[in-house]
Amino acid sequence: MSEAKPKTFYIKTYGCQMNKYDSELVAGLLRQHGVAAPEDADVILVNTCAVREHAEQRVLGHLTQLRLHKQADPARKIGVLGCMAERMGDDLIARRPFVDFVLGPDGYRKLPALLGFDEQPEWEENAEDRLETYTDIFPAHTEGVAAWIAVMRGCNNFCSYCIVPYVRGRERSRPAADVVKEVRRLAEQGYLEVTLLGQNVNSYWDGEHDFSDLLKMVASVDGIVRVRFATSHPKDLSDKLIDTIASEPKVCNHVHLPVQSGSSRILRLMNRKYTREQYLERVERIRQAIPDVALTTDVIVGFPGETEEDFEQTRSLLEQVEYDGAFVFHYSVRPGTAAARLPDSVPREEKIARLEELNRLQKKISLKKNRALVGRVEEVLVEGPNRKRPGQYIGRTETNKIVVFSPTRKESRQGLVRLRIVDASAHTLFGRELDGAEGETASAVAVAAASED
Ligand code: SAH
Ligand code: SF4
Ligand code: F3S
Repeated sequence: MSEAKPKTFYIKTYGCQMNKYDSELVAGLLRQHGVAAPEDADVILVNTCAVREHAEQRVLGHLTQLRLHKQADPARKIGVLGCMAERMGDDLIARRPFVDFVLGPDGYRKLPALLGFDEQPEWEENAEDRLETYTDIFPAHTEGVAAWIAVMRGCNNFCSYCIVPYVRGRERSRPAADVVKEVRRLAEQGYLEVTLLGQNVNSYWDGEHDFSDLLKMVASVDGIVRVRFATSHPKDLSDKLIDTIASEPKVCNHVHLPVQSGSSRILRLMNRKYTREQYLERVERIRQAIPDVALTTDVIVGFPGETEEDFEQTRSLLEQVEYDGAFVFHYSVRPGTAAARLPDSVPREEKIARLEELNRLQKKISLKKNRALVGRVEEVLVEGPNRKRPGQYIGRTETNKIVVFSPTRKESRQGLVRLRIVDASAHTLFGRELDGAEGETASAVAVAAASED
């Protein structure tokens, strides 16, 4: 690598939104030297996920391909970041010897020095890695109208199946004032929506403010028109938070509320700290306060010891709650977790059959719920052109549903627009601009909504 020209890096990201945010943080730390193709980079970084075995296998497969880039330029450095780097450490280098280094989620400040990048941001060296929040680093956010912000890191919940607390460390929140500073900067750059991220975001506590306080502070930033958040743990979804979502117009009426199982027996084995009944009570409370709310969830099928009867309870819970969407996973043993000590008793074919059954059921429910919106006018935040269909644009409703439409007016191509829903599939709504007088009244309403506060 020549010292004369600025060094360049390429980063490939696996895993959840938190990891995507972390890649933006890394890009912020390494300043403006990102490139779009690995063959053009002095440094190739892979930000990894360890949540299921399948996620790790994909990363290992990708790393195998990177060997060619190393052979093409042996001076090129290859680094593995993220949750799998933390879980496997040097074992990863033993399995893929062309990898130069591994660095877990709390170690990214070391990157500029490690890579010899010329511009190094100034910061106080943080001796206690486990308390790292990167609160002083401004990430290089990907372009668009919506940005993510990690407001807390780590997790204390130790759900028995989950690797996250082991690879991300203990829970720690960023000071609310720092979060607001980052949101203001995003608003100045033209972002309209922010999503506040945390593994268990509603247990946010910076010593002074809880998550409801933070939502209100973020919602008061001028220029931001929508605030989202993920992920909520049912045990920490307080009445105060529900009422804040209900009363703050900018806070979107969507709660991602992972249930994991509908069987109280399995929930206990999962260490989720709520029963089926307690979960349903929370759902009831949300729907009373916010009748139009969209609810989505995560489900694990085939947890150790899950019987037909337990599975039936999950199925019936999905039917009862009627989620707008559900991510269904089959259980994957994570070494070192509490559940790894239980026999992985449900055969793979059975796990897949249960997963497919829930996916079929959820698809029917999503379709029914989306069809019920046909004819309604929805406020849509336009994200940009549909790359797959020239002429079409894509946006999202407040409830996080994707809407595609073909704008005929220039002003419908950005910002908040009101569209009539004319058709629906299980995953997509199809919208149309409002016409004539209806359109004029509606866009006046949209402007009023956008300039609230
Ligand atoms: N913090 C969030 C998300 C954690 S990971 C939460 O608490 O909900 C995202 C999802 O992956 C989880 O909700 C869970 O459904 C799934 N998951 C986590 N560990 C898993 C495992 N070992 N096997 C299968 N799915 C898992
Ligand atoms: Fe994992 Fe549970 Fe923490 Fe979510 S709340 S990250 S599932 S341990
Ligand atoms: Fe995966 Fe780490 Fe996120 S394990 S799901 S990338 S926190």
